[in-house]
Amino acid sequence: MSPVISTERLILRGPMITDAPRIAEIAGDFNVAAMTTSMPHPYGLGDAEEWIGKCRHLDWRHEAMFVVEHRAFGVVGLMGFDRKRGSGTEIGYALGRPFWSRGYATEAARAALRWAKRDWGRKVVVAGHFADNPASGQVLVKAGFLYTGDVEMRACTARDGELVPTRLMVWLA
Ligand SMILES: CC(C)(COP(=O)(O)OP(=O)(O)OC[C@H]1O[C@@H](n2cnc3c(N)ncnc32)[C@H](O)[C@@H]1OP(=O)(O)O)[C@@H](O)C(=O)NCCC(=O)NCCS
Repeated sequence: MSPVISTERLILRGPMITDAPRIAEIAGDFNVAAMTTSMPHPYGLGDAEEWIGKCRHLDWRHEAMFVVEHRAFGVVGLMGFDRKRGSGTEIGYALGRPFWSRGYATEAARAALRWAKRDWGRKVVVAGHFADNPASGQVLVKAGFLYTGDVEMRACTARDGELVPTRLMVWLA
C-alpha cells in the first residue's frame, strides 16, 4: 500500500497504470525533461508505463514515488524520494508546464517533507538542481532546504548526457 499525502489543493499518491498518458504528456515536454537528470527525450507512453511498473515494486522503506494530483485538474506532476546516488534520501519532482508558477511544487514538497519526517522517519533529505533552473532552487528554499555550497557536474539524459553544474542542497527535519 502506498501512502497518500493530502494538501489543500493536491493529493500525492502512488502512480497507477491509468496515469501513464498524463505522465507521458508532462515528461514529454523537453522543458521538463531537460531539468531532470533521468528523464529521456523523447519520453513516450512506454516510458511512463515502465516508470509506473517500477514504482509498483518499490521498497517503500527506502524509496517513495508519488504522482501529484490536483483535486480539480487531475495529475499535474510527479514527486519522489530515491537513494540512487548513495548520498542519502534525495527528493526529485517535475510539474507539467501548464501548471507551473501556481505554487504546486512548493505545496507538494512541503507536504512530502512533512510526511518524510513524521511517517517515514527521515531526518535528512538532500536535493540538487541544475544551476540553470533557478525556479527549482526557489521551490527547495521555500520548502526549507539550504545550499551546501557544493556544485556537482551531473549528466542530463534529455540533453544527450551533457554534464550540467548542479547546486546541492540539504534539508534537516
Ligand atoms: C521547477 C518546477 C518543479 C517548479 O514548479 P512550480 O509549481 O512552478 O513551482 P512553484 O510555483 O511552487 O514555485 C516556483 C518558484 O520559482 C520562482 N521562479 C520561477 N522562475 C524563476 C526564475 N527564472 N528565477 C528565479 N525564480 C523563479 C517563482 O517565482 C516561484 O517562487 P515564488 O513563489 O517565491 O515567487 C517546475 O518548473 C518544473 O517541473 N520544472 C521542470 C522539471 C524540474 O525542474 N524538476 C526539478 C529538478 S531539480
